[in-house]
Amino acid sequence: MGAGSARVHTVTGAFGYSGKYIAARLLDRGIEVQTLTNSVDRANPFGGRVRAYPMNFDDTRGLVKALSGSDVLYNTYWVRFNYSGGKVSFLHSVAVENTKKLFAAAREAGVRRVVHVSITNPSKDSPYEYFRGKAELEEALIGSGLSYAILRPTVLFGEEDILINNIAWLLRRFPVFGVFGGGTYRLQPIYVDDLAELAVRYGASRQNLVVDAIGPETFTYRELVRTIGEIIRKRRPILSIPNRLGLLAGRLVGAWVGDVTITGEEIRALSADLLHTSSPPAGKTRLTEWAWAHKDTLGVRYSSELARRRDRRKSYEELRGR
Ligand SMILES: NC(=O)c1ccc[n+]([C@@H]2O[C@H](COP(=O)([O-])OP(=O)(O)OC[C@H]3O[C@@H](n4cnc5c(N)ncnc54)[C@H](OP(=O)(O)O)[C@@H]3O)[C@@H](O)[C@H]2O)c1
Repeated sequence: MGAGSARVHTVTGAFGYSGKYIAARLLDRGIEVQTLTNSVDRANPFGGRVRAYPMNFDDTRGLVKALSGSDVLYNTYWVRFNYSGGKVSFLHSVAVENTKKLFAAAREAGVRRVVHVSITNPSKDSPYEYFRGKAELEEALIGSGLSYAILRPTVLFGEEDILINNIAWLLRRFPVFGVFGGGTYRLQPIYVDDLAELAVRYGASRQNLVVDAIGPETFTYRELVRTIGEIIRKRRPILSIPNRLGLLAGRLVGAWVGDVTITGEEIRALSADLLHTSSPPAGKTRLTEWAWAHKDTLGVRYSSELARRRDRRKSYEELRGR
């Protein structure tokens, strides 16, 4: 059995980004927490209070055993893009199959409820594999017979964030900023701890739910860049550039920092307004207020997706680049 009492909650990736905030909130409530993770040795702030089990999808028995006695599973597991390079490779299609194995293991282990982190506007007909995969997983969870809450966030922000941080990083380093196309597509960023609050709240509920987890402010991409620039005092001319040129610029920066900064699919999905919904805000923290409070540190160091996958020992904060 993964844990001794029925009050144990399992969080995937509790030493990563959103999972860390969910775990912290559960611990604050006096709930026993364990994690399933690819990074059992990653530095973390919990001081041994969160037991770590390997998220080995080839070991169904092991997954079931780890999940036995868990009341709620909070699933944050996903891969941001398809990538193959050296020792690190990952694919959306594999993440879809793995997550289905996780749901099956949760069911077999008698987990009462799954809180699953998805994305805004998932669709099985989407031209984008990220959004198709997320739709397939929502359908799998809904059809699994498990009690569920599905949270659909847009972009998250917080100290370990990548997108908002790296916009600020680019603004600090370059004299101009290029936005893909007109930059008129919209985003409703949600604070990572507001997402965690929703996850914990809906983990305690018994109703099956699908919730757009969006923040209180809506920005066009261009407004977002301008606002961040104003807050960190790096006002730059914002140029509209074709997607292909944006991708090329992203690749050049990526080669410099040893990361995939952005993919063509991410640019197209963003441009298709898929990070915007017409739902009421579910989070209350305003990105602008948070950014003002973090104006001296936001974007000072680059946040690398690949560094997080290559190094499984350092915390996300330690892995920030120059
Ligand atoms: N970050 C955002 O802005 C954002 C926006 C919209 C939706 N979401 C959704 O929110 C959820 C959590 O995102 P997050 O940013 O908080 O992620 P995260 O903490 O970095 O990772 C979540 C989990 O997925 C695992 N993982 C991530 N990338 C992986 C890879 N390439 N190969 C293998 N495992 C990988 C992590 O591994 P470890 O166990 O090694 O930590 C962790 O268990 C995801 O479902 C994502 O789709 C995030």
